[in-house]
Amino acid sequence: HKIGVLVSGRGSNLQAIMDRIADGYLPLEIAVVISDKPDAFALERAQKADIKTVAVERKACASKEEFEAKINAALEAEGCELVVLAGFMRILSADFVNKWQHKIINIHPALLPSFPGLHGQKQAVDYGVKFSGCTVHFVDAGTDSGPIILQKVVPVMDDDTEDTLADRILVQEHIAMPEALKLWAEGKLTIEGRKVKVKA
Ligand code: GRF
Repeated sequence: HKIGVLVSGRGSNLQAIMDRIADGYLPLEIAVVISDKPDAFALERAQKADIKTVAVERKACASKEEFEAKINAALEAEGCELVVLAGFMRILSADFVNKWQHKIINIHPALLPSFPGLHGQKQAVDYGVKFSGCTVHFVDAGTDSGPIILQKVVPVMDDDTEDTLADRILVQEHIAMPEALKLWAEGKLTIEGRKVKVKA
């Protein structure tokens, strides 16, 4: 299976996927890594592994439509069957999401539906929840609202800051995303309404 990975930053989730492909756990090929930030460290990680990279800057495009059309073209040119959002910091339009219906997977650093949007870790610390974690889900037209594939839980400590909680969640993100992609690659995920069913 060919996948495209969309990134904006450091790319540690991209790295986790690359590592699990390299060690044989994931039967996938990353056909292209696309960033909206030309200087994202994620692009260096991909280049180091000889993966094709594309930078599409929003401000270099006249409209959001043009921005997404370029991303779509890069994904289609490489024959991607799935789009993985790994720290991609832009909201995709309903048009784009509908074109890739049930073919976009995102990771969010909170236990959805709690704390969607930006700064999920800070929201959890500020609220005072005792557990948080990460969620891997299919993307629909809402923000962090699509069918949930799997979640990992971590405790929140009394002395946690946004950063210490983010570090604890990130360890689980790097486990959760490859697990979800493995289930997808093996054809074990079916979507029924808003629920994802996982075949044994
Ligand atoms: C992760 O916390 C992810 O959940 C969030 O953005 C961060 C990306 O980190 N959406 P990285 O670029 O994968 O290191």
